[in-house]
Amino acid sequence: MPTTPPESQAVSTAVTRSAIFLVATLADGDDHAATVRAWCADVAAVVRAVGHRVPDGNLSCVCGFGSQAWDRLFGAPRPAALHPFREFGAGERMAPATPGDLLLHIRAESMDLCFELATQLLGKLGNAVRVVDEVHGFRNFDMRAMIGFVDGTENPSGREAVDFTVIGEEDAGFAGGSYVIVQKYLHDMAGWNALPVERQELIIGRKKLSDIELDASVKPSNSHSSLTTLDDDGQEVKILRNNMMFGRPGAGEFGTYFIAYARSPAPIEQMLENMFVGRPPGNYDRLLDFSRAVTGGLFFVPSADLLEALADRSGPTAGGARPTA
Ligand code: HEM
Repeated sequence: MPTTPPESQAVSTAVTRSAIFLVATLADGDDHAATVRAWCADVAAVVRAVGHRVPDGNLSCVCGFGSQAWDRLFGAPRPAALHPFREFGAGERMAPATPGDLLLHIRAESMDLCFELATQLLGKLGNAVRVVDEVHGFRNFDMRAMIGFVDGTENPSGREAVDFTVIGEEDAGFAGGSYVIVQKYLHDMAGWNALPVERQELIIGRKKLSDIELDASVKPSNSHSSLTTLDDDGQEVKILRNNMMFGRPGAGEFGTYFIAYARSPAPIEQMLENMFVGRPPGNYDRLLDFSRAVTGGLFFVPSADLLEALADRSGPTAGGARPTA
């Protein structure tokens, strides 16, 4: 029996100024799968090599695997709650699932560090993967999201962040791991900015300038804050978000890259259902009248120890049978 819990990846690091989000699919072929498995043992050393040169740069990388990729790369055993991203909503108000086998969440104080690490890690993967989405995000001044409200205020921190994001005894073979959901949102900023600030505040559930939460007597049940607050028998269930802004003003592109970690996908999925379908159905999040989700993925983040050990897995056998260890 191990006496110390496995070391987690850098899930709950402090918010940095810059980030690169990379979602990639695996190329067909056993040799490509073998390349990705071998790469798992190299990630930590590459992060050290790049990060060591800028001690204040706070460089980190979290690496996650999608459900089908897990089976193809590593076979059984598999994380208990890992499944393909579930879609929510319908029509215009839809959280779509989009392809993605591998997620890299690279964070640092400056973009040059993120860029160098992304280049090095992708270089080692070569044509074993194809990047299908790449977003270079930045932290806005005053910690404000694209929509002008302060973002991240209610995030858990310290011990609480670990408790809400790190798998424990409920799936002992994968202890120290986490789940992560990502979605790329594009905003209709002209429409949003045309709303009076008081209306925007009712949609978010907080004051825009001061970031103070609206009083319960005036906060609508369909405010973003209300719909993303979960109660489990009197206990609030939190997730850890690290959203970043991105965009190209010249192209009219204004986006939020949503990323949230938790020890189970369930609370994030419940929030998505509340936002897109509504709680009760129809009482949905009006932020979505001005924000469109264009990507969606769910990934398992192994502990740092397991990530390294995954390199030694042989993967499923050619006949499709899964190894048992
Ligand atoms: C369009 C993308 C989104 C934007 C711009 C956005 C923005 C915000 C802002 C400004 C706040 C208030 C301050 C705070 O962070 O506590 C907030 C709160 C929150 N958001 Fe989002 N959000 C987005 C999508 C999501 C999604 C998809 C989820 C979950 C699936 C989510 C979950 C939460 C949670 C849990 C809170 C804290 C609620 C509370 O305890 O009051 N957000 N968001």
